[in-house]
Amino acid sequence: MSNYSRREFLAFLGYTTTTLGAVSLVGCKKSVSTGLHKLKGLPAGISKDEVTLAEGFSYDVLIKYGDDINDHEKFGFNNDYIAILPKAHNRAVMWVNHEYPNPLFIHGNMDAKTKTKEQIDLEMKALGGSIVHLEKDKRGHWSIDTNHPDNYRVHAQTMIPLISERSIEGKMEVMGTHSNCAGGITPWGTVLTCEENYHDLYGERKKYNSKEIEYSKYDGGWTRFYNNPPEYYGWVVEIDTDKKTAKKLTALGRFAHEGATCINAKDGRTVVYLGDDKEDECIYKFISAQKGSLEKGTLYVADTENGKWIALDHTKNKELQKKFKNQTEVLTWARLSSKMVGATPQNRPEDIEINPANGDILVSLTNNKGKKDYHGSILRIREKGGDYLSTEFEAKTLITGGPETGFAAPDNLAFDNNGNLWIATDISGSSMNKDPYTFQGNNGLFVVPMMGENAGKAIQVASAPHDAEFTGPFFAPDGKTLFLSVQHPGENTKSIDKPTSHWPLGGKNTPQPAVIAITGPMLEAIAS
Ligand code: FEO
Ligand code: CA
Ligand code: CA
Repeated sequence: MSNYSRREFLAFLGYTTTTLGAVSLVGCKKSVSTGLHKLKGLPAGISKDEVTLAEGFSYDVLIKYGDDINDHEKFGFNNDYIAILPKAHNRAVMWVNHEYPNPLFIHGNMDAKTKTKEQIDLEMKALGGSIVHLEKDKRGHWSIDTNHPDNYRVHAQTMIPLISERSIEGKMEVMGTHSNCAGGITPWGTVLTCEENYHDLYGERKKYNSKEIEYSKYDGGWTRFYNNPPEYYGWVVEIDTDKKTAKKLTALGRFAHEGATCINAKDGRTVVYLGDDKEDECIYKFISAQKGSLEKGTLYVADTENGKWIALDHTKNKELQKKFKNQTEVLTWARLSSKMVGATPQNRPEDIEINPANGDILVSLTNNKGKKDYHGSILRIREKGGDYLSTEFEAKTLITGGPETGFAAPDNLAFDNNGNLWIATDISGSSMNKDPYTFQGNNGLFVVPMMGENAGKAIQVASAPHDAEFTGPFFAPDGKTLFLSVQHPGENTKSIDKPTSHWPLGGKNTPQPAVIAITGPMLEAIAS
């Protein structure tokens, strides 16, 4: 560690203070993993076209783009967030997000102006989410039950109701979910899937109340055939995989939603922590009005300079009343609202996880090149009195990316059963293996022990194939399997004849995003 000792790191985490008693512990053993002292991290700077794992880990490809999930639907493209919902000791349902299309690998036509409707339909049906049933064999290895009658897809043409006080652009039900980045699981076992860079597919209004829509440089031409307004997207969508229902929760606001991390407060209501992944955008939290539902509640935005959560509430805020007609508009224009109430711009808030040992809220701030923050950091938010309902908190940097710590651009986070923090990095395809990112090589997965002699040290466990990013790390309940997405391998490919990656099939094959299952004696020793 560069700027403070391990003893200070532990004190900083709160393990040696009295704050532990103030927050709920969520099943964490609070002991040092037995295997950590044996773990040999990968050397820095790996840049191979494969999933490279540290000694004692191995992986299987569980499912990849285009695989059948039933007799009429296929696993989607660019898999991201993974949620495992246990159904029995050897059965589970897996939800997987599908974030954005790469036309080159879906149908081959890169020109948004000449894409056919059939080509755009293929892209739309490759996004959203996949629901597949898993089974575990006697060796403890998970596999897909491809014949399960309840495997199904949600995609960018699935009709989904808006849970809203008022219609939005005239509708209470809208077409599709897409740009599904990270997510969360509610205490009642539904999945939250987050619509992030929706503007790449439907654009965004030039400004509040403008008729004009601005399209991004990645515009895929969808609006040539499906003229849906941008306001239908940028929401958190709740999926009930048992009832096969979906709903867009407008109370959680509209922005480039990265993830949605839930925890129950002391009175049983649910609090959701949310990041808006764009340079100089904000961190939010939502407090539900009732137990067991996220349909109504209060959305707050963080002023991290003064440690205050500010409510985005039209009934109470005069500034918001002057600008917007009602609360539906405040939520639809959450970004604009948050600036008006004095929220703090952040360096791209991405995934958020709650430390099970002490209740700290950890937020990945990936980077902000405009502010010369190239390597990012993880922000620690500690609610006053350990109370998730509090409107006051303390915010401090927990760990900073860079050559000294060995990782750059932290994105997805996960805690294992022993309270170790896992970090997946997201160096963009255009920056990877170039200055100032060469020290890391390809994107990777790191484990940061939170206790013991290696506390605070980032140890690399996995390195991704060319151009890829690891996303959606999710541990099986016993900690013996780590499910992980390998997203956008070969993303920099310009010509289908010369893909920059051939993972996972190798040879001359085109790359395919896939979900892998990591197992092995070292994983068990560290995480189970
Ligand atoms: Fe889709 Fe912010 O990563
Ligand atoms: Ca992400
Ligand atoms: Ca990211």
